[in-house]
Amino acid sequence: MKVLIIGGGGREHAIGWKISQSPLVHELISLPGNPGLAELGGLVEGINPADVGAVAHVAAAEQVDLVIVGPEDPLAAGVVDALKAKGIPAFGPSKAAARLEGSKRFAKEIMDRSGVPTAAWQAFTERDPAIAYLSTRPGPYVVKADGLAAGKGVLVTHEQAEAEAWIDRCLGGGFGSAGSTVVIEEFLEGPELSVFAICDGTTAVPLAPARDYKRLGDGDAGPNTGGMGCYSPVEDLPDGIVEDTLAGVINPVVETLAADGTPYVGFMYAGLVLTADGPKVLEFNCRLGDPETQVVLPRMDDDFLELLLAALDGTLGERTINWFEGTAVDVVLAAAGYPESPTKGDSISGIEAAAADKGILIFHAGTALDGKNLVTAGGRVLNVVGTAATQERARERAYGAAEKISWKGQQLRTDIAQEAISHQPLAISHRSKDEGP
Ligand code: AMP
Ligand code: GLY
Repeated sequence: MKVLIIGGGGREHAIGWKISQSPLVHELISLPGNPGLAELGGLVEGINPADVGAVAHVAAAEQVDLVIVGPEDPLAAGVVDALKAKGIPAFGPSKAAARLEGSKRFAKEIMDRSGVPTAAWQAFTERDPAIAYLSTRPGPYVVKADGLAAGKGVLVTHEQAEAEAWIDRCLGGGFGSAGSTVVIEEFLEGPELSVFAICDGTTAVPLAPARDYKRLGDGDAGPNTGGMGCYSPVEDLPDGIVEDTLAGVINPVVETLAADGTPYVGFMYAGLVLTADGPKVLEFNCRLGDPETQVVLPRMDDDFLELLLAALDGTLGERTINWFEGTAVDVVLAAAGYPESPTKGDSISGIEAAAADKGILIFHAGTALDGKNLVTAGGRVLNVVGTAATQERARERAYGAAEKISWKGQQLRTDIAQEAISHQPLAISHRSKDEGP
């Protein structure tokens, strides 16, 4: 098969790396890809992944047999529908099903209709009723732009005046059309957990859990980021949480979407808060997590492509996924100035030496070639993934390799997977008997 991957981050490099191991694949190309993906196959340059007409045109011209979509923007723009219209199989939800991420109001309505526990909510398109509702709520306040706002549309605050100003910002066009509806919801308290599944329109199979580190600095200090590191498996989870999320969240949503005539085929990402009243859904994403994918796929002892093809055929059925016994730890190396204003064009050294280390995988995210020279080209630049039988060893490997890579102003956290090896559970006190299927 000739496979086209849409996207160019660490998640897509990891997907491409795993897919390339399938005996079914004879050629891999990426749009736009990155220098890491370029080592696995050709890159299609000069096309915006969310320009769905142009993407479908390229896929047809390249005669690809399958397209795998990494990020949410092309999915929300309907890339899967555009490809299907040309007879090209594409893995990811249709535009209608991708509203699960693309509209928070839509996601809330689906959850309510499916009996899925989530924060109490109301949606508004007018200022006065929104302000009036807010004043009836206890703080902290949670106000969200309805649509995709590159992760910047959510405000959580103790200050009512700030929440009111956010309503004005959304409805006043501060997030473009993404903010023309605002969702005001109950504040959920507790540790967050993400569960990922592959869905075939009627059934779903879960992936192994991973723990992501969202804050820029050690000890969870500093601003929120896309994710500064990750590890898998995660031992200190409540018993049966993955199975319960499948039964109580993912399957009911898949059933509702199928009954509505908009079946969900693709990756489903359920963001949960483990509250004192049990898990509640914070949000859905219609894609895999980044950097979670970079530690989950190295642990998969299965043909990933075959799983995606089974999902496209609607034959995932009762399939489970096999996992290696070992562990993976990802240390993200970020550019100077990330997340506010990452510096681009800094020369990267030491990557070959790091990649030669035992048990190391390096997934590119924000890199570019300046002639023959590898330079920084985005916020999160590289993922250094250590794999080993124990988390302790995987962590040592990841940090050992990361130390060999440098550029001006490089940022990294030094505490990724620390609690996993010190046996100091984070805020969650239960232990899981089983981190994967
Ligand atoms: P979202 O884009 O909806 O995932 O929100 C971004 C982040 O805001 C989440 O990862 C949470 O940390 C926080 N957040 C969103 N909604 C809530 C809520 N209802 N209660 C508490 N925190 C929230
Ligand atoms: N790592 C969180 C995300 O992909 O949204």
